[in-house]
Amino acid sequence: MKLSAEVEHLAPAQRWERRDEIPTTGEAWPLLGDLPAARRDPLAFHARAALAGDIVRLRLGRDVYLLNHPDDVQRVLHDNHTNYRKSFFYARMKPLLGEGLLISEGGAWRRKRRLAQPAFHRERLAAFAGIMVEHTKATLDRWSGAAVRNEPLDVAAEMKRLTLTIVGHSLFGFDLLGQAEEAGQALTEALRITNDRFWSLVYLPPSIPTPSNIRFARSMRVLDRVVNDVIAARRSGPTRPDLLGMLMEARDVETGEGLSDRELRDEVMTMVLAGHETTANALSWAFHLLSGAPSVDQGLHHEAASVLDGSDPTVEALPRLETASRVSQESMRLYPPAWAFGREAVEDDVFGAIRIRAGTALTICPWVLHRDPRWWDEPDRFDPDRFRPEAVKGRPRYAYVPFAAGPRMCIGNAFAQMEMQIVLAMVAARYRLAQVPGRPVEFEASVTLRPRKGIWMTAHPR
Ligand code: HEM
Repeated sequence: MKLSAEVEHLAPAQRWERRDEIPTTGEAWPLLGDLPAARRDPLAFHARAALAGDIVRLRLGRDVYLLNHPDDVQRVLHDNHTNYRKSFFYARMKPLLGEGLLISEGGAWRRKRRLAQPAFHRERLAAFAGIMVEHTKATLDRWSGAAVRNEPLDVAAEMKRLTLTIVGHSLFGFDLLGQAEEAGQALTEALRITNDRFWSLVYLPPSIPTPSNIRFARSMRVLDRVVNDVIAARRSGPTRPDLLGMLMEARDVETGEGLSDRELRDEVMTMVLAGHETTANALSWAFHLLSGAPSVDQGLHHEAASVLDGSDPTVEALPRLETASRVSQESMRLYPPAWAFGREAVEDDVFGAIRIRAGTALTICPWVLHRDPRWWDEPDRFDPDRFRPEAVKGRPRYAYVPFAAGPRMCIGNAFAQMEMQIVLAMVAARYRLAQVPGRPVEFEASVTLRPRKGIWMTAHPR
């Protein structure tokens, strides 16, 4: 981190945050600051901002410090993690997710994480592989008609449907899409409005009856009804060993109390939402990248054909699907579904020579970190070999954080990686996906990094 000589020579105790010493983007408007540029093209804006230094002050309604050095990312996510809570942006997701794992803090978060963690243990994950294979197979069978007719498919929509089905069946024993058609529509609408809220200049709380808040409330009523019905049915039925079953059985060691229906609803909603769009986007971007890299695509196909040899993937086969694993990691490097996430300092902290004050908002932006030429050679090139073990050893650990890191690292990380490996290998064994000419892919960076108008591809049988 570059600081002026004046600051370098201050005694540590004197090195209080000096706003003037922290570089800015240099493109802020008088009143609106960096908001217009950040809203217009968030990805390009953050990439430009990062050129100003390892810590850059963004003016996004309030000051937000962008952290561009892996050491600082490590400090926030790991070394001094107790000093950081989720930033103000997460409040905009609360109407959808309630007090679920992603948003809760402190003791409430620790308790829920402890309860949910066993559902993601290695042995449990092995049981999910069968569900992933079954539903991927059904999707690929469904594609065969379109493949014969050379008809384009929106791979992004297909992946969303598939990952939603997988997360629902694996963790809760139900499929939101299978419950009622209106549930799928309500989910799409609620997600769309939550994404819009992400960049809105003025955040009007859901209680204010704007047209969008009214539509949101209507969608939430549908979703809540569906989820609450599932919870009620499970309460009166036999116990099942999935995440919902575990959460329902769990009792607080001190009070002996279990989770209320409201708490269960929040966890179901959180897992369904955190677990399906992210993975669907990661897979969609992977197919997009593969269609522009025929040699990698061929390599993936050869691996899938020889390892699977016409049968379905099993947990035992996963370690041999190395290319599939590297393709998924490299896709999340270039197009990280969680392209940015935020924290807020609880107390003052020191980053190198800069001391930041309690309450300061920080952004960690995998989109930028994953393209920093200090750690990534030719960063724009799609090259899964970057994830060979010897290459990984040569990089700072915190230069790659698609799932965040530290205690609040994504709980579904291994689940998602297994799912991606299985889907990539099964698709590659059966089809070559080609981008449809004239239907360019557009990025939308809101809560997740998603393709704005889908990803249109044709499936060619191998
Ligand atoms: C490629 C797919 C995925 C990506 C890129 C991803 C990314 C992330 C990231 C970056 C975080 C940390 C957010 C923050 O600290 O602000 C997170 C948290 C979380 N993710 Fe994922 N995720 C993925 C898949 C999943 C899946 C499959 C599930 C569940 C089945 C899931 C459930 C969660 C939950 C519950 C949290 C909150 C954990 C906590 O705070 O304790 N995610 N995810």
